[in-house]
Formats: sequence, C-alpha cells, structure tokens
Amino acid sequence: MIILDGKLLSENIKSELAAEVDIIRSRGGKVPHLAAVLIGENPASQVYVQSKIRSCEQAGFKSTLIQKSADTTEAELLEIVKQLNEDPDVDGFIVQLPLPKHINEERITLAIDHRKDVDGFHPINFGRMAQGLPAFLPATPFGIMEILRRYNIETAGKHCVVVGRSNIVGTPISILLSRKGYPGDCTVTLTHSRTHDLPGEVRRADIVVAAIGIPEFIKGNWVKEGAVVIDVGINRVPDATKKSGTRLVGDVAFDEVAPRSSHITPVPGGVGLMTVAALMVNTLKACKKEIYQ
Ligand code: GUN
Repeated sequence: MIILDGKLLSENIKSELAAEVDIIRSRGGKVPHLAAVLIGENPASQVYVQSKIRSCEQAGFKSTLIQKSADTTEAELLEIVKQLNEDPDVDGFIVQLPLPKHINEERITLAIDHRKDVDGFHPINFGRMAQGLPAFLPATPFGIMEILRRYNIETAGKHCVVVGRSNIVGTPISILLSRKGYPGDCTVTLTHSRTHDLPGEVRRADIVVAAIGIPEFIKGNWVKEGAVVIDVGINRVPDATKKSGTRLVGDVAFDEVAPRSSHITPVPGGVGLMTVAALMVNTLKACKKEIYQ
C-alpha cells in the first residue's frame, strides 16, 4: 500500500511556483496576488484561509486577507467583491465558504469576475471545464488530478466511484475523471445520499473518491482489494487522548481501508494541502493571463 503524500506533492508544487515567481520578479514582472475573503468565525474556515495565505507568502506571492464579522450583510460582501473585481493589482480572489446563512452563496459566486475566480466556482469556469475548454479548475478536484498525475496512477478504463455530489468536489471531479485524456478516461459512477446499496457501488470501484463530509463513512469491507482511495473529508471528531480534545479524520475509515487499498490519501496530509497548491497554480495562471486575456 502506498500513501499518497499530499504534503510532499504540495511542497513540490509550491517550490515550482516559488521558482517561477523568482524569475518573474527578477525580470521586473508582476508577482501573483491572491486575496481571500473570510466572513465570520467558522474555526475550520479560519484554519483553511490562514493556510492559503501562509502558502502564498512561502512561494513569494502577494496575499491579502479581508476578514469581516458574521453580521456582514450580503450588500457589504457584494461591495467587497466588486472592489476586488476592479482592483488591477489583485489577480485572483476567493470568498471562503460556507457563508453565514443570511448571505446567498450563489449570488456571491455569480458576482465574482470569472477571470479572477481562482476557486473555479463561477458557472462560466464550471461550464468551460465541463466542455474541456481552458478554465480555472476547482481547486480540490484539480488537486486530486495532480495527485493521480504525479503518482502515475493509471486511470484509463478504470471504474471510479465518487461519493458525494457537491458543486465544489463530487460533481466536478466526476466530470474531470470522465473526460478524455490523462488523468481521465474513467467510467464514473456519481453516488449520493439517495443511492441504493452504496457499499455495493463502492465495492465495484477501482478508484474511490470520498467527498461526503461524514467522518469515517467508507468502511473497510466496502473497498475492493487493490483500489485507489482518495479521501477528501476533513472532519474534526472528539478524542479525549489529544490535548486539544479533538482530531481530524477523513470520510474514509483509514485503519480498515488502508490495508485493502493499493494507494490511499491520509487525513491530514492528503487532499487538503493539494487544494491550497492548486489554488496557487490557478492564481499564477490568472496573473499570467493564461486562461483569459
Ligand atoms: N470551502 C471548502 N472548500 C473551499 C474551497 O475550495 N474554496 C472556498 N472558497 N471555500 C471552500
């Protein structure tokens, strides 16, 4: 069994990005600039956004964090988005989800200029991705594709079962893996809460992508011997043996599933770090106007 080391891969990607930024800077070019908007005090979101900002700094990117209280109105957030859309120094920006309940996430996503949408959430980017046109790919699916690519995992003709149909992970990764080319050319089954016999579906998978948001949901006897397992979950569960009283687990019961799998991503240290690296790749592409002029 091979552990798919997201920490190592994300560090490699960040070093590649840092080297490119050094060259840009030495030639007097524009250094990539990512802005992140965080509304409210969701502890997980705070950790993710800090990690994005810190990683940008490590790679020599410019970064800006805009942090506002949970009572920020939708109109105020739309104004922040408008300013970021219009700021020529900002190459790309993200609004961290989830947003407080009184703010309509769809309206905010639609307000982001698709040319700065480095999360790849805007319907223009999503639609272009679905058609195989140049687009900002959503960061987590992009990170998963990079794990498969950098570990040379065979995907052509493989049966991939995706568990979870969210707009930001399950649905886009099912599209990317079914597309022509590498990594891709999979036969994909997209499963969700209404799927009949979910364990039976997962057992047919050569590649499992677990993105359902339920701690240790995928059990050992659901997974075929030799399957590749990609765990997208980041769930905090109580653990009295830890000083913090909690620990992070994925959507896969790692101890049961790992011995049966050929490759598996750990949590932490797997997909999460790749999401950050993919976001930075998108920001550099935005800065270089690789996708849109
Ligand atoms: N919330 C969970 N994942 C993400 C992500 O990739 N981007 C943003 N903006 N919010 C998220």
